[in-house]
Amino acid sequence: MPREGLGDEGPRPLVLRVCLAVERGRYLEPTLDRALARSRLAGPDRGLATRLAYGVFQRLFYLDHALAPWLRKPGALPPAVRWILRLGTYEKLFLRTPDHATVHQWVGIAKNRAPGHARLVNAVLRRVTHRPAPPWARASVPRFLFQHWAAFFGDAGFVEAFNQPPPLWVTAFPGAEEVLRAEGVDYRPGPVPGSLALFGGPLRTLAAYRRGLIQPQNPASLLAARLLSPRPGDRILDLAGGAGIKAAWLAAHGAEVISVDRDRRRQEEGRKNLARLGLRVRFITADLARGAPETAPKVLLDAPCTGTGTIRHHPELRYRLEPGDPERMQARQLALLEAAAGAVAPGGLLVYAVCSLTEAEGEGAIRGFLNRHPDFVPEPLAVDLPVLKQGLGVYLRPEAGLDGFYYAQLRRL
Ligand SMILES: C[S@@+](CC[C@H](N)C(=O)[O-])C[C@H]1O[C@@H](n2cnc3c(N)ncnc32)[C@H](O)[C@@H]1O
Repeated sequence: MPREGLGDEGPRPLVLRVCLAVERGRYLEPTLDRALARSRLAGPDRGLATRLAYGVFQRLFYLDHALAPWLRKPGALPPAVRWILRLGTYEKLFLRTPDHATVHQWVGIAKNRAPGHARLVNAVLRRVTHRPAPPWARASVPRFLFQHWAAFFGDAGFVEAFNQPPPLWVTAFPGAEEVLRAEGVDYRPGPVPGSLALFGGPLRTLAAYRRGLIQPQNPASLLAARLLSPRPGDRILDLAGGAGIKAAWLAAHGAEVISVDRDRRRQEEGRKNLARLGLRVRFITADLARGAPETAPKVLLDAPCTGTGTIRHHPELRYRLEPGDPERMQARQLALLEAAAGAVAPGGLLVYAVCSLTEAEGEGAIRGFLNRHPDFVPEPLAVDLPVLKQGLGVYLRPEAGLDGFYYAQLRRL
């Protein structure tokens, strides 16, 4: 067996390996990043591997729909053959490789991986074409989610924007721009103050990144922290704070921040990150289902969610969702909101955010919370970004590289 990822593996076999790992439960982004880091692929081959890997997951339901007329029992095929067919179909229908080269490449891989199926791969890839598909398959989103989006937002057309590649978004810490300029990196301000779009890289080669002065973060995620309007000396609780990237940004604006999460390992990463920036955040490892360990006048709850607003970066997530998942997640979010409520000082502010675009995890969760908490009132939110729906909170439209998010702001009486 060749050692994984080493040697002269081309972009297509590498992506096939990545797809099989993702099917077994891995996340696409880190799996692809690791495979590319260990490979000798360069320039256009790296670009092709990335386009194939993201593209096949962005279009998976549609690809299966296009393949359906040519396969009697797709579920009975060995996984490698199914992925060869999907990848070959994606390349043929969506990339500019000439058809004969696409077929030749994928048949060659089939001969290696599954010789008994090489003729089938050849026959199917020669014939497969675009064909009309129901809207959820065309958008490649689970039917229940597509129907929910169409009903709740009035139109699910925004979903196509999830298939456009985003800029490289980073959050800038004080001093970042001077270092970027000194390095000659091309960048422009993002749509949320403090966020930048970079045109350079790769990220890990930049001094500003190695020093922690720029950190990958979607502007929509940064906005959740900005809604707390941090001022020097503010005491802020960052609940479900993970590795504390929002906490770090709040601390960089002078706030005294306490970040609570149950994941000790992520908090350890956060501590190291804070140390290299010379910033201070107090981390507390605790399960919020048992209540919050501190109180403060400003509290952020960036709650765990189904992540339906992040399927641009994580296109594989959509295939892991089941009907009922948003409602199951809402039960967890309500438990964390209960802990957050107990942590807000009288007269204080609670900001709730999720990177998901479902009624259950957004308005539904907040409505459920307010029914039990007459001591909280919603405050209007002014968001200077494209909006999908607003009323009780705001749903951000996931366009121009922004993740889909829901935010609500509640005042404790
Ligand atoms: C959406 S992430 C938030 C990440 C973080 N705020 C950031 O900006 O990167 C949700 C976080 O909730 C944490 N979490 C989930 N359930 C929890 C619980 N019961 N108690 C504490 N933390 C919890 C997870 O460990 C995860 O870090």
